[in-house]
Amino acid sequence: MNARPEYEERHRPSLQRNELQRNDLLAMQALAPLSLTYLPWSASAMRPSGVVAVLNEILVNQRRSVVELGSGVSTFYIGRLLRQRGGHLWTVEHDERWAALLGQELAREGLGDVVTVVHAPLVPVESRWPDEESTWYEQRRLAEMTAGRAVDLLVVDGPPAYQAANAHARHPAGPFFAARFAEDFAVVLDDIDRRGEQDIMRCWEDEIGVTFEHRPTNGRIGIGRPGPAFTV
Ligand SMILES: C[S@@+](CC[C@H](N)C(=O)[O-])C[C@H]1O[C@@H](n2cnc3c(N)ncnc32)[C@H](O)[C@@H]1O
Repeated sequence: MNARPEYEERHRPSLQRNELQRNDLLAMQALAPLSLTYLPWSASAMRPSGVVAVLNEILVNQRRSVVELGSGVSTFYIGRLLRQRGGHLWTVEHDERWAALLGQELAREGLGDVVTVVHAPLVPVESRWPDEESTWYEQRRLAEMTAGRAVDLLVVDGPPAYQAANAHARHPAGPFFAARFAEDFAVVLDDIDRRGEQDIMRCWEDEIGVTFEHRPTNGRIGIGRPGPAFTV
């Protein structure tokens, strides 16, 4: 009799955590050529293995019009790769002070031409989850942002959604960008270990016709693509 499946079921959370940590260590090595200065990694940053997945997506599928919701460490890595490969990143940030600080630091690195920091405050929106306080980025700022350029990669790591009261705060990104995507595109959703993000992936599959590949131990991200999922 094989006892291993039962063992794996019981220990799944810690096995997954270990694998995620191993993948993050490998990812830090992969990021070394783009790790030019000290960056403020914190618990709110994407996992290193998530950042690597985003950079692989840019490189392998030649993404050039990238929008990121929720700015931070990931912004620098995406900007640095796009500076080498061509392309532009619009990074959307709700916190005015954080947006200003990132803008300064990006300019100091000579990334001002490659990365546009868009400060968009959070304003009330209607929600499918009526018990939650639903806010999302001010849409006028976002509608003007890319000036009609189709988005071929959307990275969704904001607004903050770690509390029960705002667990589905990232949902409006799908419907908003659906009409702004290029014919071939990818959408990366961070934090898919959370129930809210799992609901959002299911909703976007119905609402905007993407199929998600789930990577719980490699970046803790979902990657959605039009049509069937495949691995980069
Ligand atoms: C999930 S974080 C976004 C993180 C970003 N994509 C990254 O990988 O670093 C959501 C929000 O947390 C805030 N934030 C991100 N990094 C931070 C840091 N190091 N210190 C303080 N606030 C931070 C910003 O307001 C950001 O929009």
